[in-house]
Amino acid sequence: MAVPIVKAMKRSPAAPPGEVLLDGFVLRRYSLGDAPALAAAVGESLEHLRPFMPWVALEPTTLAEREELLRRWDDDWANGRQYSYGMFRRDRVVGGAGLMRRIAANGLEIGYWVHPAFTGRGFATRAARALTIIGLSLPGVSHIEIHHDKANVASGRVPLKLGFEMVGDKRVKPAAPGESGLSCVWRVGRSSWAASDTESAPGLPAATETESTRFSRHD
Ligand SMILES: CC(C)(COP(=O)(O)OP(=O)(O)OC[C@H]1O[C@@H](n2cnc3c(N)ncnc32)[C@H](O)[C@@H]1OP(=O)(O)O)[C@@H](O)C(=O)NCCC(=O)NCCS
Repeated sequence: MAVPIVKAMKRSPAAPPGEVLLDGFVLRRYSLGDAPALAAAVGESLEHLRPFMPWVALEPTTLAEREELLRRWDDDWANGRQYSYGMFRRDRVVGGAGLMRRIAANGLEIGYWVHPAFTGRGFATRAARALTIIGLSLPGVSHIEIHHDKANVASGRVPLKLGFEMVGDKRVKPAAPGESGLSCVWRVGRSSWAASDTESAPGLPAATETESTRFSRHD
């Protein structure tokens, strides 16, 4: 049964929901059968993604390699290392987003990309908002971060709109051709998120009545 996302997350589940219904798309855990749809979306988005997504350098990949990637993500999910979701409109992949356990034992980092035909509609911001709620509801998670290269202005708008605080920047080796090498770090903690995630927060895409979460067969 679909229930409102915030209500569902207040139950503090040990693992994230496999499916979240958001305004305009569904954020859903990938399954192996999604390999062709993911390949199509990535293939159509290569030049849009290339400046800031290092993994694009590995494209094109074969169907078998993409299925292997999905298997790895499945394993990562089961082990709590990374929760990778696709943004779906019916069977079409229109983007991807995930929670990665790579910043600290008690923190999760959000990553996202959106197919160029679907940018500018708030998809990345809505996905990141949902993942923030999900991440902060997991046991032992005290904060969420979003990192982006300073040159990636569109990406920086996402944490800003969600009320994250920019806590600093750090020099890193550029990993993709558009990167300046200055990585901006945005963070939100449980208490500041609880205080700010209201329908009235500035620029925040409020949860709509269609936004809900379902626990899929994976859970
Ligand atoms: C960054 C990205 C995920 C944003 O996705 P999106 O769904 O368009 O994001 P949203 O619609 O939620 O918000 C984007 C914001 O950036 C703004 N924006 C878009 N392009 C911009 C640009 N070139 N300069 C400044 N702002 C820009 C939009 O106007 C919007 O802000 P607003 O709502 O205040 O007007 C998408 O552009 C993308 O996939 N980029 C390539 C992959 C990538 O960089 N991923 C992030 C790595 S850190």
